Amino acid sequence: MISACLFDLDGVLVDTAVYHYKAWRRLAAELGFEFTEEHNEALKGVSRMASLDILLDTGGVRERYSAGEKEEMAARKNGWYVEYISRMTASEILPGVTSFLDELKTKGIKIALGSASKNAGLILENTGLGGYFDAVVDGSMVSEAKPDPQVFLLGAELTGTPPAQCVVFEDAEAGIEAARRAGMRSVGVGGSPTLRKADTLIPGFVGFTFEDLTKRID
Ligand code: BG6
Ligand code: MG
Repeated sequence: MISACLFDLDGVLVDTAVYHYKAWRRLAAELGFEFTEEHNEALKGVSRMASLDILLDTGGVRERYSAGEKEEMAARKNGWYVEYISRMTASEILPGVTSFLDELKTKGIKIALGSASKNAGLILENTGLGGYFDAVVDGSMVSEAKPDPQVFLLGAELTGTPPAQCVVFEDAEAGIEAARRAGMRSVGVGGSPTLRKADTLIPGFVGFTFEDLTKRID
C-alpha cells in the first residue's frame, strides 16, 4: 500500500543541476582549475560543504585552504547559485511532474519534499511547486545528509505516514540508499547507472501514472 510519495527536488522535480554546475565551475575557474560536467556528476545529491571538498580534491588543492576559507568559498558559490535560481520560473519544472503531482493530490496520496538543499524554499516559491506539498523537509532541517535516512523519516513523520507506506523518488545514489535505510521503497529517476539499487527505474515523469507506480511497487 502506498500512502505517501516523497520527492527529492534537484534533478527530480526541477533541473537545477545545471545551475549548481555553473556556480561550482565559476568557483573552480577563480581558484585556477577546470571543473568539467563529468566531475560535476559526483556532486549530485551531496551537501554543499561535501561538494566543495570534492571540487577542491578535483583541483588537487583541498589542503591549501582553512575551514574559514572554505566557508567563504561555499558562500561565494551559493551567492551565484541563488542569483541563477532567483530567475527560475514554472517553465523549469521537469516534464510530466505537475500531471503526476496533480494525480497524487486527486487520489489523496500525501506529498512530501526531502531535499538536501537549503535553497529548496526559494525554488518551490519561484516555480509555484510549493502548493503541492503536505510537508517540506530541506537541508536546513536535518543534521545528517543523505545517505542518512533522516530527511525522509522526517517527511514520513510530518505527513503521518509509516515508512513502509512511503515511496521515494530520487536521482542520486545517496538518496536511494537513504530511502533503503529509512525502510522505504524507491524509484530511481533518470538514466544514471548508479541508481541500480532502486526498486524500480523511470526515465522521467512523462506519461507516468500512479497506476504504473502501484504495478511496479505495491
Ligand atoms: C542537493 C543537490 O539537492 O542539494 C546538490 O543535488 C547540492 O548538488 C545540495 O549540493 C545542497 O544544496 P544547497 O542549495 O543547499 O547548496
Ligand atoms: Mg537530486
